[in-house]
Amino acid sequence: MLNHFIKTAQLKLSISLILTFFCQFIIAQSLLSPNKNLQLTFSLSQNGQPQYALTYKGKEVIKNSTLGFKLKNGTDLTSNFTISGNTAGSVNETWQPVLGEQKNILNQYNELTVLLKQKAENPIELSIHFKLYNEGLGFRYEFPKQKNLNYFIVSDEFTQFNLAGNHKAFWIPGDFDSQEYVYNETKLSEIDLSKINIDNGVFLKSIKSNTMVQAPLMMKSDDNLYINIFEAAVVNYPVMHLDVNTKNNSLTSYLVPNAIGDKAYLQAPFNTPWRTIMVSDDARDIVGSKLIFNLNEPCKIKNTSWIKPVKYVGIWWEMHVGIASWDYSGGQAGSQNPNKVFHGANTANVKRYIDFASKHKFDGVLVEGWNTGWEDWFGNWKEDVFDFVTPYPDFNVKEIAAYAKKKGVKMIMHHETSGSVANYERRLDRAFDFMKKNGYDAVKSGYVGRIIPRGEFHDGQTMVNHFNYVAQRAADYQIMVNSHESSRLTGVNRTYPNYIAAEAARGNEFNAWSNGNPPFHETILPFTRLLGGPMDYTPGIFQIKMNVYNPNKKEQVHTTLAKQLALYVTMYSPLQMAADLPQNYEKHLDAFQFIKDVAVDWDDSKILEAEPGDYLTIVRKAKNKNDWFLGAITDENKRSTTIDLSFLDAGKKYEATIYADAADAHWETNPMAYKITKVVVDAKSKLDLNLVTCRWRCRS
Ligand code: NOJ
Ligand code: CA
Repeated sequence: MLNHFIKTAQLKLSISLILTFFCQFIIAQSLLSPNKNLQLTFSLSQNGQPQYALTYKGKEVIKNSTLGFKLKNGTDLTSNFTISGNTAGSVNETWQPVLGEQKNILNQYNELTVLLKQKAENPIELSIHFKLYNEGLGFRYEFPKQKNLNYFIVSDEFTQFNLAGNHKAFWIPGDFDSQEYVYNETKLSEIDLSKINIDNGVFLKSIKSNTMVQAPLMMKSDDNLYINIFEAAVVNYPVMHLDVNTKNNSLTSYLVPNAIGDKAYLQAPFNTPWRTIMVSDDARDIVGSKLIFNLNEPCKIKNTSWIKPVKYVGIWWEMHVGIASWDYSGGQAGSQNPNKVFHGANTANVKRYIDFASKHKFDGVLVEGWNTGWEDWFGNWKEDVFDFVTPYPDFNVKEIAAYAKKKGVKMIMHHETSGSVANYERRLDRAFDFMKKNGYDAVKSGYVGRIIPRGEFHDGQTMVNHFNYVAQRAADYQIMVNSHESSRLTGVNRTYPNYIAAEAARGNEFNAWSNGNPPFHETILPFTRLLGGPMDYTPGIFQIKMNVYNPNKKEQVHTTLAKQLALYVTMYSPLQMAADLPQNYEKHLDAFQFIKDVAVDWDDSKILEAEPGDYLTIVRKAKNKNDWFLGAITDENKRSTTIDLSFLDAGKKYEATIYADAADAHWETNPMAYKITKVVVDAKSKLDLNLVTCRWRCRS
């Protein structure tokens, strides 16, 4: 029988008694989650290979799975290990994020670190550190400082996730350069990229295998367990993809390589990112989990007073729908003819957006296409395209800065790098300096195109280091960063909260110029991409069919108008765009009121209903206010639900404003039909909703 290692006290201790199971030279140790639902077992196989297994309420989740590495110098770190020691402990604490979904985040886990030593003349030491939370497991490899290992190159990491069944999986292709894909929903055994249409408007694809997928990988077992495999704190290491063995439900880590095929250049002491497995029989636990943030280092920025939530509008959708251009040669500035493209970032148009932002109390205005370079930015793999300091002649930096200041609006700068990271890093300090001199304290960066240094992928170690470096360097200038086409967040924004959001998934923009995002897309993102940090999804499109801009355009956003509102609540981000054009909002000022009112920083959040691929209902309490906001979304199917309002303060009356799909609304055929009603409620009320979004304002 295995003895469980259970600790309740809040102290750390080091024990050797944890070794509990001896059988034919196999040594096993186990650890329980604080609520005892999860049990981790670590063991060494007969040939000294480290392995682990995980159960949830007694059910197998991860069957015995191997751990280890191969180094470039030929060192095999997969077997021949002995256990040379252990440390164990428990933590139960709370911490406060600078910006977030909750005021306080609980960090509660039991931990075990197994110290391994290879049986060799010059033995290498490697520890495996497990942290077991109520909602999942995190573990990482720790290479201590040691005599026999200093600089080393990882050729492969072999972390196995040997799943207990052929689960349903929500997956995107294991591309090294992009995550901007529609999710596929198949059994693990059916994962086969050759069988799906992966064109979908993704311009740059680097796909190595038909069975490789990206993490976070969300799964559901036949007996209704929700399982999610991801990683946390990817720092100085490549992104981990998952190679699927479709015959036996086993996944193996695949690290994104560099230009010459190596995976990671390291020096001991070094800790890898955490590999995470979240498990619950309640899907809401996955969406609400803070495991990824808990596994990241605390905030390293001392003074965070300048890191603020941002609701913004911008010169952006005009280009995506094709009525304006990024480049100066696009046409006559200010043209009213929708078929004639004009340069969007002209001073008069920017002032129009500043006026709109000021009138409706938005924090910021983003302007894309303000600087020289857009004539040859796309697809040429050219090194020096943008210098990030030279505006087009019709974009008057000083005049715009003064106008925005007068109107109480912050300008947001755009740095499209066209993937030329070499060029961007060379110019970064001058670019940030230019921003500060002109009153900008937030930047949206972009990495469209193949990376320079040539041969590098967006998700390799070099680029991970670049994205983290930009965030850190930006912090020196008190600049907030929103990166597009970056590697996806893995909670690193806990450490650098000025890394306020990233795109790194398929955003709303695809609806403007491709076959778009199917209605289930936004019900999956909170189970995948958003677990690692906020996304700049750019919701709020009111003019849903694109043929108003050009009768030949068949595209539309696959949504109702009310659903666009709900996304502000269901997709947490402290940076949220009202992405549509001012003139489209002016036609629907009643619905626009929700975007004006909705908070972007919260004291509390509750996941009320969740099912990946189907529906999601989240309610959140605005930071330092007594206002609640609820967003409920569905996939392509209609949905009615009844919400128990017991989360409201007992004894208080609230006025609820309900922004709902009209009775005859349909995401495809009648998407813009909505209905706004008001009703007085309290904590005892129940609300019948037909998919919708609401706001409760306390009346007392
Ligand atoms: C792709 C980004 O996702 C989008 O937001 C931006 O407008 C274009 N690149 C141009 O940089
Ligand atoms: Ca993009």
